Amino acid sequence: MKKLLDLMEGELKKAFEQAGFDPAYAKVVLSNRPDLCEYQCNGAMAAAKAYRKKPIDIADQVVEALEAGNTMFSMIQAVMPGFINLKLSEEFLARYMDEMSAHEKLGIEEPEKKETIIVDYGGANVAKPLHVGHLRSAVIGESVKRMGTYLGHHMIGDVHLGDWGLQMGLIIEELRDRKPDLPYFDPSFEGPYPSEPPFTISELEDIYPAASAKSKVDEAFKERAHQATLRLQQGYEPFRAIWRHIIQVSVTDLKKNYSSLNVDFDLWKGESDADPYIPRLIEILEKKGLLKESQGALVVEVAKDTDTKEIPPCLIRKSDGAALYATSDLGTIIEREEDFHPDRYIYVVDKRQEMHFIQVFRVAKMAGIVKEETPMEFLGFGTMNGKDGKPFKTREGGVMRLERLIGEIDEAVYQRIMENRTVDSQEARETAKIVGLAALKYGDLSNQASKDYVFDVDRFISFEGNTGPYILYTIVRIKSILNKYAAQGGDVEKCRTILPAAADGEKDLMLRIARFSEVMENAFAETAPHKICQYIYELANSFNSFYHDTKILSEEDQDRKESYIALISLAKRVLEACIHVLGFEAPDRM
Ligand code: ARG
Repeated sequence: MKKLLDLMEGELKKAFEQAGFDPAYAKVVLSNRPDLCEYQCNGAMAAAKAYRKKPIDIADQVVEALEAGNTMFSMIQAVMPGFINLKLSEEFLARYMDEMSAHEKLGIEEPEKKETIIVDYGGANVAKPLHVGHLRSAVIGESVKRMGTYLGHHMIGDVHLGDWGLQMGLIIEELRDRKPDLPYFDPSFEGPYPSEPPFTISELEDIYPAASAKSKVDEAFKERAHQATLRLQQGYEPFRAIWRHIIQVSVTDLKKNYSSLNVDFDLWKGESDADPYIPRLIEILEKKGLLKESQGALVVEVAKDTDTKEIPPCLIRKSDGAALYATSDLGTIIEREEDFHPDRYIYVVDKRQEMHFIQVFRVAKMAGIVKEETPMEFLGFGTMNGKDGKPFKTREGGVMRLERLIGEIDEAVYQRIMENRTVDSQEARETAKIVGLAALKYGDLSNQASKDYVFDVDRFISFEGNTGPYILYTIVRIKSILNKYAAQGGDVEKCRTILPAAADGEKDLMLRIARFSEVMENAFAETAPHKICQYIYELANSFNSFYHDTKILSEEDQDRKESYIALISLAKRVLEACIHVLGFEAPDRM
């Protein structure tokens, strides 16, 4: 099904051509004067220069051509200095609604080329608690992945765990200090090592922070941890055995956490998986003559003459051979190229890591690991701040654990539901979970990702304004009307024909619904979930004012009533498709 804008543009193109002008000027855009028109074409202004004519004369000629045989528009007007103002015909719009509602994906066609796209997001560090810093990556990345899937692409989400760094050595040495009798620390032990982990998740949660604190005051301990990390990376079996336990215990916990966020990865790979690809990486870089020695380390110089800021060389190998962040990202890219031949990469990571990704992407292209034309995109997000404008902390000033954050939101929503409603507390708890997740995710996603934003629970959980709960509330309202219609003996499924709008509010709702495919495609092309939020906020507002002005269930004209039911069902489907790609769901009641 063609996008509304493209259909209009098709008509305008014909008219430009008939009037003797280049159809390339026929671009149609949403009106910036909604009081005057719904859509507009500004092409006459641009054409004026090329044809040395007055814009209004060109507009007049195009309008004349457009009017001949027109069925798409109810208003076509040339206005000074040369705008072409347009309103869609109610009849045409109603048929477009019918087509959308008959279409499984609400008018979205399969992409011309189905792309394989890697989304690298999540980025949790094994054995370290998942904190709010990782929340944004998970929430934004999941949404980007779902958008692509909805549009028909082959999306591959990879959590890319931090599982190969110093935290592993820290845990190993702290474990040695706590439980020196474990066989992993007995050099004469010949195996096999126990299959049961030597710690639980709560012990592990205690071990890492303790070890990290110790390493800051105890130089010798820090050095031990460093050495243990190196030995682990070199394959020392007892440490590998501990490492596998750490991964196992920690990943089980991570999966639980991510799943409570409705976040789901196709690949549970980590930095450690890049390790086997490092020798190949070095070989490729060497063959291309890209490796340079600098102060005992191997680097690739990535600066370009056109750079406006300094781009330092990318560090590939240090003299002690320890794994480096950029090296493992490059190794991972070799692996991804081999396994999936991606058409595009999207990394959803804190924007403070931008320089790292500039370097990595440049090396990948210079070395020919990734084709020059393959887009590698860094979707850097800003910081989540508290109301004081500083990075979000707990009331006690510590880093907020994700579980606790979710718990607090759910509790706040629960209180709000219980305040003025009559549902039992069991149902309120269930609903609070669904609504709480929407509040959290929408609160994040409604901001442009690169911007910092203020995490404000009270605002996020409000049922009014630009919030997740407001969107859900709107969907629940539609569900309830449809249920009442069914209770009156109506059959929602049989309401198929949407009549031409009889009122402004009704037409406004149709116009907004009609934009769905354009918004979805555009939001994905720009990896901008906030554009979907903006859209559904406007759509919800439009529905609510239609609802306010229209007696749906008491409408006496049966055809009109069925048309209303078909229209609001369609609005519901559009809203649901959008919140699905944002990564949350609506309850049946709230
Ligand atoms: N583990 C990293 C961190 O916590 C984020 C990983 C981002 N992804 C990547 N491919 N480097 O900072």
